[in-house]
Amino acid sequence: MIAANWKMYKTIPEAVAYVGRFVPMVRNAADVDILIAPPFTAISSVAAALKKGGRTDIFVAAQDVFYEEKGAFTGEVSPSMIRDAGGGFAIVGHSERRQYFHETDSLVNKKAKAALKGGLGVIICVGETIEERNTGRTFDVVKRQVSEALVEFQEADFKNTVFAYEPIWAIGTGVTATPEQAEEAHLFIRSVMKEIYGGDIAGDMRILYGGSVKPDNVDEIMACPDVDGALVGGASLDPESFSRLVMFKKG
Ligand code: 13P
Repeated sequence: MIAANWKMYKTIPEAVAYVGRFVPMVRNAADVDILIAPPFTAISSVAAALKKGGRTDIFVAAQDVFYEEKGAFTGEVSPSMIRDAGGGFAIVGHSERRQYFHETDSLVNKKAKAALKGGLGVIICVGETIEERNTGRTFDVVKRQVSEALVEFQEADFKNTVFAYEPIWAIGTGVTATPEQAEEAHLFIRSVMKEIYGGDIAGDMRILYGGSVKPDNVDEIMACPDVDGALVGGASLDPESFSRLVMFKKG
Protein backbone atom coordinates (compact mmCIF):
# COMPACT_ATOMS: atom_id res chain seq x y z
CA MET A 1 0.00 0.00 0.00
CA ILE A 2 1.27 3.43 -0.95
CA ALA A 3 -0.60 6.08 1.02
CA ALA A 4 -0.69 9.86 0.70
CA ASN A 5 -1.18 11.90 3.86
CA TRP A 6 -1.83 15.41 2.62
CA LYS A 7 -1.92 16.81 6.16
CA MET A 8 -3.34 20.38 6.20
CA TYR A 9 -2.82 21.04 2.51
CA LYS A 10 -5.13 21.50 -0.48
CA THR A 11 -8.42 23.26 -1.02
CA ILE A 12 -11.26 21.41 -2.73
CA PRO A 13 -10.38 22.72 -6.23
CA GLU A 14 -6.71 21.83 -5.67
CA ALA A 15 -7.65 18.34 -4.49
CA VAL A 16 -9.93 17.71 -7.48
CA ALA A 17 -7.30 19.00 -9.93
CA TYR A 18 -4.74 16.66 -8.33
CA VAL A 19 -6.99 13.62 -8.80
CA GLY A 20 -7.57 14.59 -12.43
CA ARG A 21 -3.83 14.54 -13.08
CA PHE A 22 -2.99 11.60 -10.84
CA VAL A 23 -5.49 9.02 -12.14
CA PRO A 24 -4.02 8.68 -15.66
CA MET A 25 -0.49 8.58 -14.21
CA VAL A 26 -1.23 5.41 -12.23
CA ARG A 27 -3.21 3.64 -14.93
CA ASN A 28 -0.61 0.89 -15.10
CA ALA A 29 0.07 0.48 -11.39
CA ALA A 30 -0.36 -3.17 -10.53
CA ASP A 31 -0.38 -5.11 -7.27
CA VAL A 32 -0.51 -2.01 -5.12
CA ASP A 33 -3.24 -0.47 -3.02
CA ILE A 34 -3.32 3.30 -3.33
CA LEU A 35 -4.75 5.50 -0.58
CA ILE A 36 -5.22 9.26 -0.36
CA ALA A 37 -5.93 11.06 2.92
CA PRO A 38 -7.05 14.62 2.18
CA PRO A 39 -8.22 17.09 4.84
CA PHE A 40 -11.79 16.34 6.02
CA THR A 41 -13.14 19.17 3.87
CA ALA A 42 -11.97 17.52 0.63
CA ILE A 43 -12.84 13.87 1.35
CA SER A 44 -16.12 13.83 -0.52
CA SER A 45 -14.73 15.79 -3.50
CA VAL A 46 -11.72 13.47 -3.78
CA ALA A 47 -13.99 10.40 -3.59
CA ALA A 48 -16.26 11.87 -6.28
CA ALA A 49 -13.31 12.79 -8.51
CA LEU A 50 -11.89 9.26 -8.20
CA LYS A 51 -15.28 7.82 -9.09
CA LYS A 52 -15.48 10.08 -12.10
CA GLY A 53 -12.00 8.91 -13.13
CA GLY A 54 -13.08 5.27 -12.84
CA ARG A 55 -10.82 4.55 -9.84
CA THR A 56 -13.16 3.60 -7.02
CA ASP A 57 -10.45 1.09 -6.02
CA ILE A 58 -8.25 3.95 -4.76
CA PHE A 59 -8.97 4.31 -1.05
CA VAL A 60 -9.87 7.65 0.48
CA ALA A 61 -9.00 8.14 4.14
CA ALA A 62 -9.56 10.65 6.90
CA GLN A 63 -6.46 11.85 8.76
CA ASP A 64 -8.19 11.38 12.11
CA VAL A 65 -11.53 10.19 13.48
CA PHE A 66 -13.46 10.55 16.73
CA TYR A 67 -14.55 7.57 18.82
CA GLU A 68 -18.22 8.43 19.28
CA GLU A 69 -20.87 8.06 16.60
CA LYS A 70 -22.65 11.33 17.37
CA GLY A 71 -23.16 13.81 20.16
CA ALA A 72 -22.04 17.10 21.61
CA PHE A 73 -18.39 16.88 20.57
CA THR A 74 -17.73 20.19 18.87
CA GLY A 75 -15.26 19.94 16.03
CA GLU A 76 -15.13 16.15 15.85
CA VAL A 77 -16.01 13.81 12.97
CA SER A 78 -17.39 10.29 13.47
CA PRO A 79 -16.60 7.08 11.54
CA SER A 80 -20.02 7.04 9.85
CA MET A 81 -19.59 10.67 8.76
CA ILE A 82 -16.31 9.71 7.10
CA ARG A 83 -17.99 6.79 5.35
CA ASP A 84 -20.85 9.06 4.35
CA ALA A 85 -18.34 11.41 2.70
CA GLY A 86 -16.81 8.53 0.74
CA GLY A 87 -13.93 7.61 3.04
CA GLY A 88 -12.98 3.98 3.63
CA PHE A 89 -10.09 4.40 6.07
CA ALA A 90 -8.95 6.58 8.95
CA ILE A 91 -5.42 7.33 10.07
CA VAL A 92 -5.09 7.30 13.86
CA GLY A 93 -2.25 8.21 16.19
CA HIS A 94 -0.22 10.24 13.76
CA SER A 95 2.75 11.71 15.63
CA GLU A 96 1.56 15.23 14.81
CA ARG A 97 -1.68 14.47 16.64
CA ARG A 98 0.17 12.90 19.55
CA GLN A 99 2.54 15.88 19.70
CA TYR A 100 0.26 18.89 19.07
CA PHE A 101 -3.05 17.54 20.33
CA HIS A 102 -1.73 15.43 23.20
CA GLU A 103 -3.25 12.19 21.94
CA THR A 104 -2.41 9.27 24.20
CA ASP A 105 -2.08 5.57 23.44
CA SER A 106 -5.45 4.90 25.03
CA LEU A 107 -7.15 7.59 22.92
CA VAL A 108 -5.54 6.10 19.81
CA ASN A 109 -6.92 2.71 20.85
CA LYS A 110 -10.44 4.11 21.33
CA LYS A 111 -10.32 5.82 17.93
CA ALA A 112 -9.01 2.70 16.17
CA LYS A 113 -11.72 0.49 17.68
CA ALA A 114 -14.46 2.98 16.83
CA ALA A 115 -13.23 3.32 13.24
CA LEU A 116 -13.23 -0.45 12.77
CA LYS A 117 -16.65 -0.80 14.38
CA GLY A 118 -17.89 1.92 12.05
CA GLY A 119 -16.73 -0.04 9.02
CA LEU A 120 -13.51 1.83 8.27
CA GLY A 121 -10.04 0.41 7.86
CA VAL A 122 -7.42 1.99 10.12
CA ILE A 123 -3.81 2.99 9.74
CA ILE A 124 -2.28 3.17 13.21
CA CYS A 125 0.88 5.27 13.38
CA VAL A 126 3.71 4.61 15.80
CA GLY A 127 7.29 5.83 16.05
CA GLU A 128 9.93 7.22 18.37
CA THR A 129 11.44 10.68 18.84
CA ILE A 130 15.13 11.31 18.25
CA GLU A 131 15.73 11.51 22.03
CA GLU A 132 14.09 8.12 22.49
CA ARG A 133 16.24 6.63 19.73
CA ASN A 134 19.44 8.19 21.04
CA THR A 135 18.79 6.90 24.54
CA GLY A 136 18.09 3.36 23.35
CA ARG A 137 14.35 3.45 24.03
CA THR A 138 13.06 2.94 20.47
CA PHE A 139 11.89 -0.62 21.03
CA ASP A 140 10.27 0.14 24.41
CA VAL A 141 8.32 3.06 22.95
CA VAL A 142 7.22 1.23 19.82
CA LYS A 143 6.22 -1.85 21.81
CA ARG A 144 4.10 0.25 24.15
CA GLN A 145 2.45 2.13 21.26
CA VAL A 146 1.69 -1.06 19.34
CA SER A 147 0.37 -3.09 22.25
CA GLU A 148 -1.72 -0.26 23.73
CA ALA A 149 -3.23 0.59 20.33
CA LEU A 150 -4.48 -2.99 20.07
CA VAL A 151 -6.17 -3.38 23.47
CA GLU A 152 -9.47 -5.30 23.08
CA PHE A 153 -8.92 -5.93 19.38
CA GLN A 154 -10.80 -8.93 18.01
CA GLU A 155 -9.20 -11.28 15.53
CA ALA A 156 -11.38 -9.98 12.67
CA ASP A 157 -10.18 -6.41 13.31
CA PHE A 158 -6.69 -7.20 12.09
CA LYS A 159 -7.87 -7.74 8.53
CA ASN A 160 -8.71 -4.04 8.34
CA THR A 161 -5.74 -2.75 10.31
CA VAL A 162 -2.49 -1.42 8.92
CA PHE A 163 0.45 -0.13 10.96
CA ALA A 164 2.66 2.75 9.93
CA TYR A 165 6.09 3.02 11.48
CA GLU A 166 6.99 6.69 11.29
CA PRO A 167 10.09 7.66 13.25
CA ILE A 168 9.38 11.25 14.25
CA TRP A 169 12.93 12.36 13.43
CA ALA A 170 12.35 11.32 9.80
CA ILE A 171 9.05 13.14 9.28
CA GLY A 172 9.34 16.22 7.11
CA THR A 173 13.04 16.46 7.84
CA GLY A 174 14.51 15.00 4.67
CA VAL A 175 16.30 12.46 6.88
CA THR A 176 14.95 9.04 5.95
CA ALA A 177 15.52 5.99 8.08
CA THR A 178 18.03 3.74 6.37
CA PRO A 179 16.55 0.56 4.92
CA GLU A 180 18.28 -1.28 7.79
CA GLN A 181 16.66 0.95 10.42
CA ALA A 182 13.24 0.59 8.78
CA GLU A 183 13.56 -3.18 8.42
CA GLU A 184 14.72 -3.55 12.03
CA ALA A 185 11.74 -1.58 13.37
CA HIS A 186 9.22 -3.37 11.14
CA LEU A 187 10.57 -6.75 12.13
CA PHE A 188 10.33 -5.68 15.75
CA ILE A 189 6.67 -4.62 15.34
CA ARG A 190 5.98 -8.00 13.77
CA SER A 191 7.68 -9.76 16.68
CA VAL A 192 5.56 -7.80 19.19
CA MET A 193 2.45 -8.77 17.25
CA LYS A 194 3.57 -12.39 17.12
CA GLU A 195 4.14 -12.49 20.86
CA ILE A 196 0.62 -11.23 21.58
CA TYR A 197 -1.46 -12.55 18.68
CA GLY A 198 0.53 -15.33 17.05
CA GLY A 199 2.42 -15.81 13.83
CA ASP A 200 -0.45 -15.71 11.34
CA ILE A 201 -1.78 -12.31 12.35
CA ALA A 202 1.76 -10.94 12.68
CA GLY A 203 2.76 -12.27 9.28
CA ASP A 204 -0.31 -10.90 7.50
CA MET A 205 -0.19 -7.45 9.13
CA ARG A 206 0.71 -4.70 6.68
CA ILE A 207 3.34 -2.33 8.04
CA LEU A 208 4.04 0.88 6.13
CA TYR A 209 7.12 3.03 6.56
CA GLY A 210 6.72 6.81 6.80
CA GLY A 211 9.25 9.61 7.05
CA SER A 212 10.73 11.51 4.08
CA VAL A 213 9.87 8.85 1.52
CA LYS A 214 10.69 10.30 -1.89
CA PRO A 215 11.08 9.16 -5.49
CA ASP A 216 14.83 8.68 -4.96
CA ASN A 217 14.57 6.44 -1.90
CA VAL A 218 11.26 4.60 -2.33
CA ASP A 219 12.72 1.64 -4.20
CA GLU A 220 15.30 0.78 -1.53
CA ILE A 221 12.79 1.22 1.29
CA MET A 222 10.21 -0.94 -0.50
CA ALA A 223 12.84 -3.61 -1.09
CA CYS A 224 12.98 -4.34 2.67
CA PRO A 225 11.22 -7.67 3.26
CA ASP A 226 9.13 -6.41 6.19
CA VAL A 227 8.15 -3.07 4.65
CA ASP A 228 4.73 -3.48 3.03
CA GLY A 229 4.21 0.07 1.86
CA ALA A 230 4.75 3.74 2.56
CA LEU A 231 2.83 6.56 4.21
CA VAL A 232 3.96 9.75 2.54
CA GLY A 233 3.56 13.40 3.45
CA GLY A 234 5.52 15.99 1.46
CA ALA A 235 6.23 13.87 -1.63
CA SER A 236 2.53 12.97 -1.96
CA LEU A 237 1.42 16.56 -2.55
CA ASP A 238 2.51 16.58 -6.17
CA PRO A 239 0.77 13.99 -8.38
CA GLU A 240 3.90 13.40 -10.42
CA SER A 241 6.07 12.52 -7.45
CA PHE A 242 3.31 10.51 -5.73
CA SER A 243 2.67 8.51 -8.90
CA ARG A 244 6.38 7.67 -9.03
CA LEU A 245 6.10 6.33 -5.49
CA VAL A 246 3.06 4.24 -6.42
CA MET A 247 5.03 2.84 -9.36
CA PHE A 248 8.03 1.93 -7.16
CA LYS A 249 10.38 -0.59 -8.72
CA LYS A 250 10.04 -4.02 -7.25
CA GLY A 251 13.43 -5.53 -6.48
P1 13P B 1 6.93 13.27 5.16
O1 13P B 1 6.80 12.28 4.03
O2 13P B 1 6.65 14.69 4.74
O3 13P B 1 8.21 13.11 5.91
O4 13P B 1 5.74 12.93 6.20
C1 13P B 1 5.58 11.63 6.62
C2 13P B 1 4.29 11.53 7.36
O5 13P B 1 4.13 12.08 8.42
C3 13P B 1 3.20 10.75 6.73
O6 13P B 1 2.17 10.54 7.61
